[in-house]
Amino acid sequence: MTKFRTLDDLGDVTGKVALVRVDLNLPMQDGAVTDDTRVRAAAPTILELAEKGAKVLLLAHFGRPKGERVSTQSLSMVIDAVQDVLGKEVMFVPEIAGPVVEQTIGILRAGDIAILENTRFWKGEEKNDPELAKAIAANADIYVNDAFSAAHRAHATTEGLAHVLPAYAGRSMEAELKALEKALGQPDRPVAAVVGGAKVSSKLDVLTHLVTQVDHLIIGGGMANTFLAARGVNVGKSLCEHDLAATAEKILEAADQSGCTVHLPYDVVVAKEFAANPASLRTCNVHEVAADEMILDVGPQAVEALADVLKTCRTLVWNGPLGAFETQPFDAATVALARSAAALSKEGALVSVAGGGDTVAALNHAGVADDFTYISTAGGAFLEWMEGKELPGVKALEQA
Ligand code: 3PG
Repeated sequence: MTKFRTLDDLGDVTGKVALVRVDLNLPMQDGAVTDDTRVRAAAPTILELAEKGAKVLLLAHFGRPKGERVSTQSLSMVIDAVQDVLGKEVMFVPEIAGPVVEQTIGILRAGDIAILENTRFWKGEEKNDPELAKAIAANADIYVNDAFSAAHRAHATTEGLAHVLPAYAGRSMEAELKALEKALGQPDRPVAAVVGGAKVSSKLDVLTHLVTQVDHLIIGGGMANTFLAARGVNVGKSLCEHDLAATAEKILEAADQSGCTVHLPYDVVVAKEFAANPASLRTCNVHEVAADEMILDVGPQAVEALADVLKTCRTLVWNGPLGAFETQPFDAATVALARSAAALSKEGALVSVAGGGDTVAALNHAGVADDFTYISTAGGAFLEWMEGKELPGVKALEQA
């Protein structure tokens, strides 16, 4: 297990200023937050520090304003959602360093919480400018990073601050790292990975890394078509990256060499048009797809076989849906396999870890998110972790 300080290692923080990096990059519609999962993930850390008497200053980014003040990307937009989750009043500060922050700290009492402005309004954030990190740190005593989902960014508030203040992992960061370590670091074997999504090209590094790590690689979604086509299957007018045939072959060869079994669908759900419940919908063997049909989901027989594979496994990592799950009935394979994984996890037979925006949406849609062992709040960071990359935000905590 990687080593870093956690909130258990804190001394007395009464009246001390804690800078807490959280991920408040929240989905919004018509000015309101539509999903507060990330706030709920950060809440235990924020409340624990407040209860211990720290003055808590939250640091976060919101969108990609590229070093400019953009009013629609002010973190003042999320204040209501944060207050609702924390059940406490939270002050908003339109700066991240300097006299305004200093004055605010003077006003705050022990246990009070404030949100500083969107860190990406300052150019030095994404450049990981040490001067900006120092300016932010000047007002604080400790730095707590609770934003695993932003840990793949080497920015001033995700990485730089860990070098200028005593640094600690927050509870959510700690839980993410423990769960991920259990899933791919030192997992109970056999390990299965489900990788779905539209394109092989977007997950090339994930696939290349996973074949060396897992015992079973289950490939679904549009990317399975690229592998099927590389194997000489006629995929009709399915989404397929024909130019990646050689790459797909290489991944399959690497899997062979590492003793990783790759599972591609052998029956599929096809239609002539991509629409909900189309008239042309049918299920067929993967070798019977007509030239004017497209594959839109993994077939029921393949799903049953995949569920049997999961029964032999002790660990599962899941990223990406198996079919075009947002359109009925092409959610069927994802829902069925997710339910099998959830049932095995509930029995204690399987450690299941899932991550990525689409994946979490798919598992929520299947109604099983609570039964998975761990659901990561991360999108890009989860993928980079699945690629075997070291995340700069995590590395900085380990070095601190
Ligand atoms: C996310 O939403 O995945 C994180 O907050 C990172 O955001 P970014 O991709 O804009 O760096």
